[in-house]
Amino acid sequence: MYKIIELAHLMLQQHLTLGDVAIDATCGNGHDTLFLSQLVGETGKIYSYDIQLAALESAKILNANQNNITFIHQSHEFLELNDAKAVVFNFGYLPNGDKSITTKASSSLTAVENIIKELKDNVLIIMVLYPGHKEGKIEADVLSEFCNNLSSKEFLVSTYKNSNQNNAPFLISIIKK
Ligand SMILES: C[S@@+](CC[C@H](N)C(=O)[O-])C[C@H]1O[C@@H](n2cnc3c(N)ncnc32)[C@H](O)[C@@H]1O
Repeated sequence: MYKIIELAHLMLQQHLTLGDVAIDATCGNGHDTLFLSQLVGETGKIYSYDIQLAALESAKILNANQNNITFIHQSHEFLELNDAKAVVFNFGYLPNGDKSITTKASSSLTAVENIIKELKDNVLIIMVLYPGHKEGKIEADVLSEFCNNLSSKEFLVSTYKNSNQNNAPFLISIIKK
C-alpha cells in the first residue's frame, strides 16, 4: 500500500508531536531531516548525523529555513539519545553521491545496539534497509537477525516489506513494550 519510506514517515507522523526531540541517524540530503523538523516544529529539536560533509552541506541547503536542527558530522555509532522520542535510520548511500560510501553492517549494528541498551519507553526506532546492493544485503541480514532476537517481553519489533519485489527495501521498527 505504501512505499517503505512513505510508511516510515506515516509512523513518525503518528508518533511525534510539536515540541518533541528526534534524531535522523543518516542525514544524507536531508529530506528525512526536513520531514522531522516540520513535524516537531519550532519548539522541537532535530539532531541529524552523517559521516559525509557533502551530505550535511546539501542537507543544510534543503533545510535553510528550519531553525530547529543541529547537524552533526559524526558516525551514528556515537549518537546520544538524550530525550529523543524517535530515531530514524535510512540506510545505504547518498543518492547522487559516492556509492562506495554506504552505511556498513558493523557500525549500523553498533549504533542500534547502543540505542537499545538505553532505550526508554515510548521511543520509536525506525530502520529502512536496502538489500538490493551488496553491502545493503549484509547490513539487512545482520540487523534483521539482531532485531528478531530481541526479547518479545521487552520490545515490540515489526517488519514491513513490499514483498512482491526481489530484494525489496524493508522497514524494521522497534519500540519498548
Ligand atoms: C540513504 S542516505 C540517507 C537519506 C537521507 N535520510 C535523506 O533524506 O536524503 C544514507 C546516508 O548515510 C550516511 N552514512 C553512512 N554511514 C554512516 C554512519 N556511520 N553514520 C552516519 N551516517 C552515515 C551516508 O553518508 C548517506 O548520506
